This record gives sequence, structure tokens and C-alpha cells, in this order.
Amino acid sequence: MKPIRVGILGATGTVGQRFISLLEGNPWFEITALAASDRSVGMPYHQACTWRVSADCPVHVREMIVQACEPGLDCELVFSALPAEMAGVIELQMAQAGYAVLSNASSHRLDDDVPLLIPEVNPEHTLLIAQQRQRRGWDKGFIVTNPNCSTTGLVLALKPLYDAFKIRKVMVTTLQALSGAGYPGVPSLDSLDNVVPFIKGEEEKMIIEPRKLLGGLNAPNDAVELADMRISAACNRVATRDGHLETVSVELGQKASVEEAVYALRSFRSAPYRLGCPSAAEPVIVVRDESDRPQTVLDRDSGHGMAVIVGRVRPCSVLDLKFVVLSHNTIRGAAGGAILNAELLIAQGWVK
Ligand SMILES: NC(=O)c1ccc[n+]([C@@H]2O[C@H](COP(=O)([O-])OP(=O)(O)OC[C@H]3O[C@@H](n4cnc5c(N)ncnc54)[C@H](OP(=O)(O)O)[C@@H]3O)[C@@H](O)[C@H]2O)c1
Repeated sequence: MKPIRVGILGATGTVGQRFISLLEGNPWFEITALAASDRSVGMPYHQACTWRVSADCPVHVREMIVQACEPGLDCELVFSALPAEMAGVIELQMAQAGYAVLSNASSHRLDDDVPLLIPEVNPEHTLLIAQQRQRRGWDKGFIVTNPNCSTTGLVLALKPLYDAFKIRKVMVTTLQALSGAGYPGVPSLDSLDNVVPFIKGEEEKMIIEPRKLLGGLNAPNDAVELADMRISAACNRVATRDGHLETVSVELGQKASVEEAVYALRSFRSAPYRLGCPSAAEPVIVVRDESDRPQTVLDRDSGHGMAVIVGRVRPCSVLDLKFVVLSHNTIRGAAGGAILNAELLIAQGWVK
């Protein structure tokens, strides 16, 4: 297969840099355009960007000139790592101009005709693309979004339990890494030796996005019917670099033992892995038996950062079961998730 030519909107930011490092060596894609704000436009990428990924910036990317985030980029597909305030309008312009837009931003996640996608969870929701094009008069372009970074880890862990036992209620408390706030993010004097018990907009996203992801789609022209569950989320910023850890309690529709829940989690198979998507992890849910895992530093890179790690599955004396989930926020929860979405769309024939 000839690689798909891709551009990155917001290429100089935390997630933009992850896109560049993850796309390097991916046989399905070739980076042909980089775009960012007026501050960076016209500069070689290595001058516009403070590179913060541990592997070096790829040589062919260093000298690429950063362009404006507007139609005219030399590519077929764009990955968007723009702040939500700008993403809304720019992503619409790009899709209207015929680009496939794979977005990390929250702007269009809840639009009725836009798939909010995790390939292992709801691959059938890509059928909404047909409705989106018809409704908006686009013949080629479209927008597909990936969820908020904390939602991604949570929903991957909920999916096998939801399928096997249904879930009525979820209580989740997050311990989220500093990189989730972008670069430079939270000032050091606010983050070192501290926990900040508030992340703007995060709890609102966590109580609605899982219901769209786990919701049913009866026909391409239907909106997603939200999953019937109640979610309470408490989101905290902690002084880790990467990796969002979450403690979760669930009330199930049908009672299950710890062993049955672990069996459901361990038996879960990745649909995009079966389709041959290069970024898919198998197993995508890694269940750890040790009493003190997952831990952020030890486990966040499991499956090259694309797996979610579940541990401490045990009875909950208020709801039914409780456990811990860890996922890498800038890989699985952002750039890696969007790249896997694009791979699924290629495997399904939406991107050629
Ligand atoms: N960090 C995470 O873990 C994470 C996870 C999931 C989703 N997300 C989402 O991904 C998006 C990017 O997050 P981030 O953490 O990478 O942010 P970031 O580090 O602040 O990067 C923002 C990027 O957007 C560009 N930009 C800013 N204003 C712009 C404008 N007016 N026009 C065009 N480009 C503009 C910046 O370019 P300049 O360098 O030129 O200013 C930079 O490339 C956000 O929507 C965020 O919510 C982030």
C-alpha cells in the first residue's frame, strides 16, 4: 500500500510532537505537512518547536517549514492537535475542503453526526461518516474524533464489563499527569509537592463521552443512542509527567464475581489488531495480578503506550466492583488513539 500523506495541525505542541514521533516508521502514513499558529508559521519545524519527546525529532521533519492551519496543505488526511477554541472552526474548514480530519480536540466530539471513536470499542460508529457527508454536503472530507484522554482509558476497561454484565453506575477518580495540560502547562510552583483537585471541563467530558462511546448505533442515519448509565467523575492533576491513573467503582446490571470480571477483561480481543492495524496492541487490556500495580512509572508504556493496564480488581462495598486503570495520556489518550482511528478508517475503506 502506498502511504497516506498526512499533515499535523498543532504540530509544535505536546500532542503534535507525539504524532510526529509515533508516525515515524508507521508504514501506512507519511508526514508531508506541519501546521501551527502564526507564531510558528514560516519557521523550520526545529526552530518553531521546543522538542520534548525523548527520541530525537526525525531528520526529515526538522527542516520542514511550518504552515498555517488552513486548506492548501499538501496531504489527504490531517491529524488535529489544536486547542479546542481554534479546532472547531479550523476542522470544519479542512473537512469542507476535502480532508479527512482526525481530531483530538473536544469541539466536535458530541456532534450527532461525528463519530467519537475508539477502534476496540465502537468501530461500527464510523457509519456516521455517511450521514455527516450527506447532511453537510461534503463529498470527500469528514471529521472523526477521539475521546478525552481520561475517558479513553476508562472506557477501554469498561467495555468488556459492559458487554458481559451491563453497567449501571460508574464512580471514577483520576490522578492525571502534567503533560495532559500541554506545554508548558501547569507552573512548577503549582504542581511540585501538590495535587490540584480541579481540571477545567474534564469532569463534564468524563460523564458524557463514555455514554456516547458505549452507545448503540442502529442504522447509519441514526444518532448514537447514549448508553444508559450514570457516571460521577472527580479529576485531579498530580505531579507525574505522563500517564493518567484512575480508580473506578462500578455497579453492574448483572452481578459478577471478581474472577468473572477478570476473565471478561482478559478475554477481550482487539478488533483493529485483527484487521492488521500497525498501532493496535494485543492484548489491549493488560490485567495485572500484583497488589500494587498498575503504577504510573512502571506500566504506562505497556503495549508501546497503546495498552490500558487494569489492576486491583476487587469487591466494592458501596457498588459492586472496583479497580485501578492506567493509560498513557499523550499516546493512547491522544496521538496514538487518533492514529489508530485513522488506521481503522483505512482498513474499513473510508480513507483510500
Ligand atoms: N496533552 C494531552 O495529554 C491531550 C490528550 C488528549 C487530547 N488533548 C487535546 O489535544 C489538543 C492539543 O493539546 P496539547 O496538549 O498538545 O496543547 P499544546 O501543547 O498547548 O499545543 C497546542 C498547539 O496548537 C497550536 N496553536 C495554538 N493556537 C493556535 C492557533 N490560533 N492557530 C493554529 N494553531 C494554534 C500551537 O502552535 P504554536 O506552537 O505555534 O503556538 C501548538 O502547536 C487540545 O485540544 C487538547 O485538549 C491533549
